[in-house]
Amino acid sequence: MEDKLINEINEKTAIVDLVSEFVSLSKRGKNFMGLCPFHQEKTPSFSVSPEKNIAKCMSCGEGGTPINFYRKIKNISFEEAALELAERAGIEIKHKKVKSDPNTHYFKLMNEVAQFYQFNLKNSEKGQEALKYLYQRQMTDELISHFKLGYATGHSDTLYQVLKDKKYAVSDMILLGVVKQADDGTYYDLFSDRIIFPITSPRGDVVGLSGRTLNPKDQVKYINSPETVIFKKGYLLYHLFEALSDIRMSKQVVLYEGFFDVISSYAAGVKNGVATMGTALTKNQAQLIKNVTKSVLIAYDGDAAGLKATDHAIPLLEREQLKVEVLTIPEKMDPDDFIKAYGPEKYEMLFGEYTLDAYAFRYHYYKQGKNLQDANDMKAFRRQVMVMIQNSDSSIRAFYAQKLAHDLNIPVESLQRKKSVQSEPIIPKSDQPKMIDKHQKAERYLIFAMLRSKEAAEFIMKSLKQTDFAETITAAIRLKIENYYEDHRELDINDFLDQLTLEQRQHMENVLLTDMFWTNNIVISTDELSPYIALVKEANLKRRLEYLREKIKNEDNVSDILINERDQIIVLLKHNK
Ligand code: GTP
Ligand code: MN
Repeated sequence: MEDKLINEINEKTAIVDLVSEFVSLSKRGKNFMGLCPFHQEKTPSFSVSPEKNIAKCMSCGEGGTPINFYRKIKNISFEEAALELAERAGIEIKHKKVKSDPNTHYFKLMNEVAQFYQFNLKNSEKGQEALKYLYQRQMTDELISHFKLGYATGHSDTLYQVLKDKKYAVSDMILLGVVKQADDGTYYDLFSDRIIFPITSPRGDVVGLSGRTLNPKDQVKYINSPETVIFKKGYLLYHLFEALSDIRMSKQVVLYEGFFDVISSYAAGVKNGVATMGTALTKNQAQLIKNVTKSVLIAYDGDAAGLKATDHAIPLLEREQLKVEVLTIPEKMDPDDFIKAYGPEKYEMLFGEYTLDAYAFRYHYYKQGKNLQDANDMKAFRRQVMVMIQNSDSSIRAFYAQKLAHDLNIPVESLQRKKSVQSEPIIPKSDQPKMIDKHQKAERYLIFAMLRSKEAAEFIMKSLKQTDFAETITAAIRLKIENYYEDHRELDINDFLDQLTLEQRQHMENVLLTDMFWTNNIVISTDELSPYIALVKEANLKRRLEYLREKIKNEDNVSDILINERDQIIVLLKHNK
């Protein structure tokens, strides 16, 4: 962008008006003063000069020209800031590189949806019950409006009717997943009788929604809108946009697992919280955090799943050069439970007293529950710690090697010698497959093939019965895949994960989707499926044979049918060799 143009944009943007959108200012002589939006302070040192048309903090030095102020406060690039301000000032820009967002229309629709649900919460009869539920959970009107919480009534197509009246295209409602079409051709709303949490992009547009059931017996606690052109869960963090100014001031992000953790913490004064939405942290989400701050505090649930998710998140965050700390919540509670049980003051104290650095957390976590006199536990513990420190700086490496040697009661030199331990991938103990044999592998590969292509899925479903699967959990997942393809042509993995039970989702995330075959994107073509199918069938026969042998051995009057079946299977298995 040319200097001349930059100057024109800066000149035509009144700094006082611009800053006033973010900071409340009061006049002091020629200038205006307010609390600095870039650091925490109690007395105003952010000075805005209409004469020079610049803003500057006398204390931390942040600020600058209108474009510079705007890009910092919105956390966008110089180019983006300049273009936005140019548009506001009515400056025409030729050869504009950054085109206006093609999704603007979708944002408008989603925003409308969120507003409609917000309105329903306060203004519908059933909404009063939802409101009562929220008040019971210590939500206040102020919180409800900050988080733009809403309510979807139990009527089947109110949203659809409202959007239609406002002349939105049905195809857009369906594309954005808020309305669905039934087999008889009628349209109905995705959310019914649920509390609605709007989810915004890092730029502040509503891109998706999540709905929590009010019925404690409901199997599915949360329903998310499906993955759409604008809603990609792995690329979003709940409340990130809304928390930007608090993140900037506290210079840290607090990362939670649940919506309610973010909201309760906000109410307790911890306003810089964000959350993933029921899936493991992704690299993209770690990058989102890195774009806004240098430090992150993980505040996942204190239960086994939360600890494990923390262990998973740490390396992803460290890879983005973030400083990582972990808040350890006692008694297996989540932050929301803790605040409810002990109150906001105790919660604030946790932040001082119960935070560990990422190394101390993991060392403790790996050591927990292990018997360091037991050879297997020793080996596992050593491997975990060695992997933890392998890419760390030398003082951390030395410190933890020492500590490990001490805990294992061995000389520290014996740790350094064996190079190969470092390259062995570690699998958390609870996930360690008992013994993954070729049959189990075949079963998993078939699941991968089904996830990747509908054609393969159909072929496999035709060739194998549900009962041919040995692992009950893969059998259940296979069934879910079958259901999914009934109304989808392609499988979107995040969307699919949403349809699983918690246990199935965890199995997918921890066991299947971490399998090399999946992560390395190894594609199995339809012709290659047959040997795997044969293996699964063979395993099934072997199980049957085992069962028959056992029965024949233990029963006095064995029927000939069983003996015949046994002999047939033996022949069949020999034949297949
Ligand atoms: P409460 O139980 O009401 O306190 O909600 P929570 O937000 O604390 O939920 P929880 O700790 O059980 O789960 C953490 C997050 O995982 C939630 O905020 C959701 O984003 C997600 N989640 C939980 N249950 C489901 C579910 O059944 N389906 C989907 N798709 N996501 C879920
Ligand atoms: Mn909770």
